[in-house]
Amino acid sequence: MDFRLSEEHDMLRKMIRDFAKKEVEPTARERDEEERFDRKIYDQMAELGLTGIPWPEKYEGIGSDYLSYIIAVEELSSVCASTGVTLSAHLSLASWPIYMYGTEKQKKNFLTRLAGGEALGAFALSEAGAGSDVASMEMSAKKDGDAYILNGNKVWITNGGVADIYIVFAKTDPAAKHNGITAFIVEEGMEGFSIGKKEKKLGIRSSPTAEVMFENCRIPEENRLGDEGDGFKIAMTTLDGGRSGIAAQAVGIAQGALDAAINYAKEREQFGKPIAHNQGISFKLADMATEIEAARLLTYKAAWLESNGYEYGKASSMAKLFAGDMAMRTTVEAVQVFGGYGYTKDYPVERYMRDAKITQIYEGTNEIQRLVIGRMVTE
Ligand code: CAA
Repeated sequence: MDFRLSEEHDMLRKMIRDFAKKEVEPTARERDEEERFDRKIYDQMAELGLTGIPWPEKYEGIGSDYLSYIIAVEELSSVCASTGVTLSAHLSLASWPIYMYGTEKQKKNFLTRLAGGEALGAFALSEAGAGSDVASMEMSAKKDGDAYILNGNKVWITNGGVADIYIVFAKTDPAAKHNGITAFIVEEGMEGFSIGKKEKKLGIRSSPTAEVMFENCRIPEENRLGDEGDGFKIAMTTLDGGRSGIAAQAVGIAQGALDAAINYAKEREQFGKPIAHNQGISFKLADMATEIEAARLLTYKAAWLESNGYEYGKASSMAKLFAGDMAMRTTVEAVQVFGGYGYTKDYPVERYMRDAKITQIYEGTNEIQRLVIGRMVTE
């Protein structure tokens, strides 16, 4: 067993850290306040190859692995969680299912555009009445000659309104419940497809979250992903991997908050000495550092399992569960270390705390993760 990162992973981390510090961090606060998505940052990530990290070069990827993708999301999230999730949703939720279930033609057409960064991806599964209970979705897809007609609305769509390619799930056979769901690849600009309400959120405010709407939207049959009825399995297996991306986001957020808290604790003096010299503070920092490391190990393990072809669903859920809860605890403590200053927008820790909350909610709430893990450990 060797816990060191390979030279390739180490170099990639350094490259992304430099990029994140130079190009992402300086505007993170302003983008958060203005709720502004910056496509230029996505384009810069594309230039570095980040938008296609795990995919083969023949699809415009850079032929690396899932651990590299996880490291990228972690590093980006340590300065801006919104940028982290933009990449995570693009890679693991939109590109992965095409790589895994797409025809060669779909890969050539859609995956290459996503991997090369010409297109940004999104994943449209949840509905107003179907969040945790995916199978209760109501959106319909009716076969009409060599096409499907999509009707219904999807909500909470990360990259909604700024993405170019959406993976959309709809019922082709409502009576068949789980087995009646089918996945489609929808392109921005298709007739009958429009963007609805943009959410105003507590955190990850520079990552747009929007409703997407379908009114008699005609999708050519060649845009169906997998067979009719495969949609639930496609969604679940996509989320299996996506959850380690959210775990990486949580680790990154927590690390960013800890770094800020350590710097502050070493500089801030009260009663004639830096507050870091008080055990009340240094024990907090020690607990935060330890929990982050534990979450990172779980997350890297899940990515390593996926990269090496092993079953990773349970590891990914465990990583997401632990890292999400850890990020919330850690960022609350980071604000506490800063005292009153932490509660203001003059320092980044209040943003980290707001951003951390979503990691306990999306890509399956942490209650759903416990349900998934609970089923696995008792079967
Ligand atoms: N892989 C493969 N197959 C799976 C699977 C998996 N991970 N999970 C379930 N299945 C199969 C089951 O084996 C079963 O197959 P059979 O019918 O052949 O027996 C079938 O699917 C139905 O499974 P369940 O009975 O377990 O289904 P369920 O209705 O009880 O739901 C659930 C299970 C785990 C609760 C699931 O609905 C779930 O994960 N819910 C959470 C949804 C979620 O994560 N949403 C996130 C939205 S995306 C997002 O948040 C993105 C973003 O913004 C960034």
